[in-house]
Formats: sequence, structure tokens, C-alpha cells
Amino acid sequence: MKNADILVLDFGSQYTQLIARRLREQGVYAELLPFNVSTQTIKAKNPKGIILSGGPASVYAKDAYFCDDQIWGLDIPVLGICYGMQLMAHKNGAEVAPAGQKEYGKAKINILKECALLKGVTNGSIVWMSHSDKVTALPSGFEVLADSENSEYCVFGCESKKFYALQFHPEVAHTEFGDVILKNFAKICGCESTWNMGSFAKKEIEALRTKVGNDQVLCAVSGGVDSSVVAALLANAIPQNLIVVFVDNGLLRHNEAKQVEEMFRLKLGVNLISIDASELFLGRLKGVSDPEKKRKIIGETFIEVFDAEAKKHANVKYLAQGTLYTDVIESSVAGASKTIKSHHNVGGLPEWMKFELIEPLREIFKDEVRKLGLELGLSRDVVFRHPFPGPGLAIRIMGEVTKDRLELLRKADVILRDELKSSGWYDKTWQAFCVLLNVNSVGVMGDNRTYENAVCIRVVDASDGMTASFSRLPYDLLENCSRRIINEVEGINRVVYDISSKPPATIEWE
Ligand code: XMP
Repeated sequence: MKNADILVLDFGSQYTQLIARRLREQGVYAELLPFNVSTQTIKAKNPKGIILSGGPASVYAKDAYFCDDQIWGLDIPVLGICYGMQLMAHKNGAEVAPAGQKEYGKAKINILKECALLKGVTNGSIVWMSHSDKVTALPSGFEVLADSENSEYCVFGCESKKFYALQFHPEVAHTEFGDVILKNFAKICGCESTWNMGSFAKKEIEALRTKVGNDQVLCAVSGGVDSSVVAALLANAIPQNLIVVFVDNGLLRHNEAKQVEEMFRLKLGVNLISIDASELFLGRLKGVSDPEKKRKIIGETFIEVFDAEAKKHANVKYLAQGTLYTDVIESSVAGASKTIKSHHNVGGLPEWMKFELIEPLREIFKDEVRKLGLELGLSRDVVFRHPFPGPGLAIRIMGEVTKDRLELLRKADVILRDELKSSGWYDKTWQAFCVLLNVNSVGVMGDNRTYENAVCIRVVDASDGMTASFSRLPYDLLENCSRRIINEVEGINRVVYDISSKPPATIEWE
């Protein structure tokens, strides 16, 4: 089992992983575990400190989330954030009550006492609150370190035990000195800034080697950066026991199958097994319109195809996938957060699956994966490709997926990407794609009335896919895309631009 400098226990806030990520940015290796992990597992990781994350629940709820009580006796520093603060207060004998008013958004911190945690934080700086309960009395031995207009106990702690608690979220960018506070906590824990992507790669490669031993691993690649990075890690760790498989599910973009094969065979020198399962996938999706059903069917069919391939080899025990933290959190299998979508390589796996999963990217974000890819020597071309979801074009076609509709979408999509690349906008955006809507609209071409499909262009800016805003593309570029799609793709007579942010929308439409 890998050691971690700091363990973050996840009580279900959508942004918990940001805590771990902010620490990694400072060279401290932090890892996320579910809130109810056993003390035994915690001890096995030999952490120098523990952070209790925020979460939506109340410590007084019937089914409140509690961690193992033994963590209070481990004799290592603990930082409670928001829900974690209330838990620390509650479990150490103090009072928590519903706040008269829920408090969301900006507040100003008023520092009352100099302490190691708040060293370097400017008095009166902005902190980001999001809570409904609040601590109304401190546990004995604790003292208040800062307050704010609405929080008498904005920061408190017990310096002798090295227990600290924050009512606000230091991990979000809106908290002006959030990174300073997390850095201070890491210092209190005695962590050194020695972690980097190179050391992560080395650790992962070693951990994979130990885990896999003499068994075989089937690694499914899609041509996207995530699965390519996983394949590169495994190629370094267990080259002899690696089987790399690419499945054409019929839901790929124009020319994609050919490009992926070329990339792996020619550029990366990997002996790729290509499987054309397009008829199988499209047959299963016949008549299906519900997004979650589509996702589950695709997830299951992938596993069936992998299973059939694995039977052709001696001893395949593991299936490796490029699951990222974003996929995990949105499928809600990480801890306590709510399901948003079943990402096909996490939430959509069938119960009968016999493989054990290897998911070395499960704890990190896309931009960290890209750094890792560069570290492993992948080309910039692969590393900076836009993300493409496992369920492919199926979740970009509203309603039933048919060959004709796939073809229509492919034609529009390739025009969009072509225009973005030639204008230099592809590299400035996180993702760009077309969505085929299930509405027809009236148009006029020549002197004739048309009643045809509408396509939506979705282009977003993001740094990790957890949040996103629509890209402010120049009107001329949008106009070129619209004109070309309508002129060149028979069957489309209207193009619209999606101007929603995530949240409340998501990046993909389904
Ligand atoms: P959403 O639509 O949830 O997407 O805002 C966030 C990011 O994840 C990608 N995505 C997926 N990736 N399997 C994947 O491998 C999936 O099932 C899946 N669904 C969404 C999406 O393209 C975006 O980059």
C-alpha cells in the first residue's frame, strides 16, 4: 500500500478532491479516502496528518457521517473543514447547532490570535463559506483563533494536540489565502515539499509492478489522454504482461479508429489488438433514448467484449482503465456525494464482471494526467487532445442512436474541429463538440422549405472538468462553423451555441 503524507477523509463535498490537489500543487502527497475508512487502513498509510472534508450533512442527522473515533487518538495533526469542523467540535464534546441563517459565499476573516495555521494570512482577507450548521461552543482545551461577521468560531484549534478547524473552505480559489493555510497545515504535520509528477510516476509504476505480479492486464485504450497514460504506465511497469485493446464501438468520431490504431502502433510501438464491435453496440442501443440506460448498456457491452478477448489469453486478472477523479465523483462511488451521471468506466460496470480493476489515475485530475503523460514521454499531440467520453457520440445524440444520426453528427463535428484548429482555438479550449438535437426546425434553402435537424455547438473552458464555462468564441468563427455545417451537411438546417456553465449544466448533454 502506498504511503501518503496527508489523508483527506471525504464527507461528500463535491470539491473534496480539490483539497488533495491543492496540497499536491505544493509538493505534498495527499490522498482521498472514504469518511468511514478503518483506523487500521489509515495507520497502514502512515500519514503525517489528516484532513476532514466538508460535506452536505449535519452531525445531528439520523444518518450522519462519522469517521472512526480512534482517529482522535492517533497523535497526528487533524484539520477539520466545514462539516469536518463541526464533527471535530461534536466529537470532542462541544455544541453544534443549526445556523439561524445559512451562510454561502464571501466573508472576511478577523484574526484574533497568532497561530501556526494562520501564519501569513492577511487580516480582513476573503474566505469562502458554505454551511448551514455552526459551532456554538468550543470543546475544552480549544481556543478561538479567528471570527467573521456571522461566525463567532470561524477558526479554532487546540495547538497542543495540533487539532485545527475552519468554518470556510481553504481549497477553493475564492479563499484568498487558502493555499497559505493548507501549506501551513502541511508544515504543522512536518511534511516536506518533495512530491512531484516524476515521483508520482515512479511510485505508480512500482505499485503496479507489485500488484500485478505474474498476472496479465488487459488495458482498454480509446485514444484519449487518460487511457494512453495508463497504457504508458503499464508499459513501463509490466511490459511482458500487458495486453492493449482498442474497441471500435461504432460511436467514435470521423476517422477515429484509424487514427488511434496508427498512434499506438506507429508512434508508441504498442502491439494493439483492435476489435470491431460496432454492430454489437449499435444493436444493443436500438430503441434506447434514456441517457442513463445508454450509459449502462455501453458500460456492460464494453466489459462483455473485454471478457471475450481476455478468454483468448492465459491469465488475465485485471482490467486497466483511465478513470479519473472527475469520473469517480460524478458517478458517486468515491464517498458520499450524489450521482450526477454514471460514467461508463465507473458507475456503468456490470455486477457479473470478473476482472479486478486497475485505475492508476483515480485520484488525479485531467491537467495532472497531462503532466504525467508528458513525464512519461507521450507526445503533446496525445497529451493535449480534447477529452472524449467513453460512451462516445451516443451521449451527444439526443434520443435514439442510429447509424444515420451518427453519420450526421460526425459530419458536423469534423467541421467544427476543423474550424477550431485552423483558427487556433482548439488549443485554447477544454472541449469542443457538436450535439445532435432531437428537434427539427423549419428553414428555407433556395426557394424551398426545409424541416430538418438542429445541431448544437458546445465549446467550453475548464481546468479539470469539474466546473466549466462556455468559450467566448469570436462571432466570425461561430458564423463560419454554422455556415459550413448547414451548407455541407445534408439534413441539418440550424446551428445553435450552448452558453450554459457547469454547474448548473454539465459539459456533455447526457
Ligand atoms: P460532464 O458532462 O459530466 O463531463 O460535465 C465532465 C468531463 O467528463 C467527460 N465524460 C466522460 N468521460 N466516461 C468518460 O471517460 C464517461 O462516461 C464520461 N461522461 C462525461 C466529459 O466529456 C467531460 O470532459
